[in-house]
Amino acid sequence: MLVPLNNKQSALNGLIRQFYKGSHNIKLEVKDVNELTWSHQEEFIKETVNNYLTKKYPISNEFIKAFIKKLIGYLELVQDVHDDLYKYLCMTMKNTTIESYYHHYLIGNNVMNRIIIRETNNLVLNGTTGMRTWEAALMLVDWALCNKEVFRNKYVLELGSGVGFTGVAIAKFCPLDTILMSDFHYDVLNMAEQNINVNFPCSQSQTTTYAKMFTTAETKVNIGVMNLDWTDISDLSEELCPDIIIGADIVYDPTILKPLCEVFEWFFKKNKNIVIIIAGIIRNEDTFEQFSRMIETNFQVEYIQYDKNVFIEWNQDIKKYLLKIKL
Ligand SMILES: C[S@@+](CC[C@H](N)C(=O)[O-])C[C@H]1O[C@@H](n2cnc3c(N)ncnc32)[C@H](O)[C@@H]1O
Repeated sequence: MLVPLNNKQSALNGLIRQFYKGSHNIKLEVKDVNELTWSHQEEFIKETVNNYLTKKYPISNEFIKAFIKKLIGYLELVQDVHDDLYKYLCMTMKNTTIESYYHHYLIGNNVMNRIIIRETNNLVLNGTTGMRTWEAALMLVDWALCNKEVFRNKYVLELGSGVGFTGVAIAKFCPLDTILMSDFHYDVLNMAEQNINVNFPCSQSQTTTYAKMFTTAETKVNIGVMNLDWTDISDLSEELCPDIIIGADIVYDPTILKPLCEVFEWFFKKNKNIVIIIAGIIRNEDTFEQFSRMIETNFQVEYIQYDKNVFIEWNQDIKKYLLKIKL
């Protein structure tokens, strides 16, 4: 069961969450540092760097180095610093930087509920922005986990999925039938497929004419990857018939707004009841306005108010939108 995040968490829990959030910009108050005694530090090590999943799917070396360095800086002033913190700091200094690593996303207030995604820190790698997870994906999944019933028994298609955080998280926690993650970049789809296998290790695979599908061993959810380029939908399979289309951070390039709307139209022609849910960050007001105008002219658009972190922490201060598009 998913347990929502708790605002009043102990210094230890707060530190563990900050670690998995991937931010080494840690700020600890004096009372927090006082709470982080030797046994709490030991617990922190056990739940983070020494956790079996973190060892199996390693987190960025550079991040661990920066995080532990900062933590030791705080602790040294008032506490005995646990030997293992120094040990892990030395280990990270010996390792060379790796380009991709595993990010462990904690869902709800339980370190056992995690989505593990192999990704990179690079904003753009090999000509794609899809090799990392973006803030809008965190917001979209948080919303989905608060609205699970929307997905009951549905066939979901994700556009511009990137390496798969959204698809994997929704497949893991929502009661859907199928989720198909699509993108147009070979490396991205390859990594998304690896991430399916990491999170659903014993799933059965099957290749259809347009997708590679996996059926999860426990929940029997179908999850897959397919190549779908919004600028070339001439060969799109007629068999593809989703009930829901989702997309996180896919509206950022003014040249793809029209192709993207054409993709929506293509699917609405097949099924006028499709619901499209798009989450995004407003980096450029003009691009967003252009997109809004385009979809408002052609479809019904509902702007969903969603401002809180419930199961996943994401940055509430950024300019963002979550919208539902219908015919
Ligand atoms: C900013 S990333 C967002 C990735 C992921 N949805 C997330 O939020 O973490 C944009 C994604 O759109 C994909 N993309 C860009 N242009 C595309 C196109 N013409 N057809 C299909 N996917 C495209 C990129 O490969 C990339 O994975």
